[in-house]
Amino acid sequence: MTDRAFVKEAAQFLQEKFQEKASLAIVLGSGLGNFVDSIKNKKSISYSQIPHFPKSTVSGHEGNFVWGKIEDVSLFILQGRVHYYEGHDFNAVTFPIRVLKELNVKTLVVTNAAGIVRTSFKPGELMLIKDHINLMGHNPLRGENEEAWGPRFPDMSEAYDKKYLSIAKKVARTLKLAVREGVYVGVNGPSYETPAEIKMLKTLGADAVGMSTVPEVIVANHQEMKVLGISCLSNYAAHTGSRLSHQEVLDIGKKVSEKFGLFLKNLVMHMR
Ligand code: HPA
Repeated sequence: MTDRAFVKEAAQFLQEKFQEKASLAIVLGSGLGNFVDSIKNKKSISYSQIPHFPKSTVSGHEGNFVWGKIEDVSLFILQGRVHYYEGHDFNAVTFPIRVLKELNVKTLVVTNAAGIVRTSFKPGELMLIKDHINLMGHNPLRGENEEAWGPRFPDMSEAYDKKYLSIAKKVARTLKLAVREGVYVGVNGPSYETPAEIKMLKTLGADAVGMSTVPEVIVANHQEMKVLGISCLSNYAAHTGSRLSHQEVLDIGKKVSEKFGLFLKNLVMHMR
């Protein structure tokens, strides 16, 4: 389990630097970081300056802790995340989520880029995550439980809050945005999946696949945060015969950034 004293130290540092509060936070995934350009009154600190914060090594992940406003809603934004495949353990991967709780954040919006498992979905579409499957082979809550954060055996029957899911669908309808809804499966990466693995994931009930989000959402649930998850569907996972590259994932992120930004902005105003 993550060291509580380290979390407190990081949160205190951010509180002193920002002198701001927010009850909502957004984690921006691969290629989606430029959403922060639309934030007003922004204050930003590089992860490298925050005590005990893990450092991102992946292109497309900027690594800034941001505070700002959308209309009159204050929010924190994690511009970029770290992944297990970079060599970080699950404590490091979920450290920022512990810090957000220490800063009194109640609601977490997690976003990511994901490969498409359900072939009726298309690259460039957004998928609301209704549930996940943890195929990462680990759990961030392993080890002695920190009772001050949450229970030893946290409930995961509504890991993605139904109320926020329904609000997100309503907001999408109002904006005339077609959004999908589906199950996200978390894998370790960094190699993309083989065609046989994608076939297996489909059989297991997955609609999209990615290398993040699951540990963050487990920790968020442990500490009783409400979660909304959004996947930006960037590519067909390995079943169309075409080859995959990280660049393709980043390119789609850029392409959908306008739609994604508009959706996120409107969502934030309806989520408080
Ligand atoms: N597989 C796993 N993770 C991903 C993919 C994929 O095809 N695309 C973006 N993240």
